[in-house]
Amino acid sequence: MENEIGEVLVTEEEIRAKVKELAKRISEDYKDKELLLVGILKGAFMFLADLSRELTIPVQFDFIAVSSYGSISKSSGVVRILKDLEADIEGRHVLIVEDVIDTGLTLNYLIRNFKVRRPATLEICALLSKPEVQRVSLNIKYLGFSIPAKFVVGYGLDFAEKYRNLKHVATLKTKVATGR
Ligand code: IMP
Ligand code: MG
Repeated sequence: MENEIGEVLVTEEEIRAKVKELAKRISEDYKDKELLLVGILKGAFMFLADLSRELTIPVQFDFIAVSSYGSISKSSGVVRILKDLEADIEGRHVLIVEDVIDTGLTLNYLIRNFKVRRPATLEICALLSKPEVQRVSLNIKYLGFSIPAKFVVGYGLDFAEKYRNLKHVATLKTKVATGR
């Protein structure tokens, strides 16, 4: 398993410190509000679990699972909702938690889709972002790390469903295209 893994881009310690820092900001920003955390499955599960345990405010959880429509999504950014939210988010304070923003098309689509449901507020918290390949502008209020345009795995992120359980974020030796 290990020999497919390349260099470590973000260590376990760096992630832990950043998660605490982000959770502190979020706890302050939402201290008088009822926060609904929306995790994007599957990649965000680990970040969401750790982040939420550092929050000092009451929170509720929901999840959405999406998948790209193959080649069509490369140009249009249309994503297929595999599992929709259970909560009605109208009037709620929603914070979307995502593992990585690559082109940004997935989140761009979700933001538009969620806005139609009229949440009171809607913000993004992403562990990783690859600014070099981002194709749409997104207001990422809470960002962990900006990384180079490389395919990465670990801490929730997979390559063919593997490596999600690594404690750090690392590149893959196997070349995988990133940015669409
Ligand atoms: P975007 O729509 O191009 O921003 O892609 C976002 C989604 O693609 C993420 O939610 C991930 O599921 C996946 N993805 C993008 N880059 C990586 C990566 O480096 N490793 C693993 N998954 C990735
Ligand atoms: Mg994802």
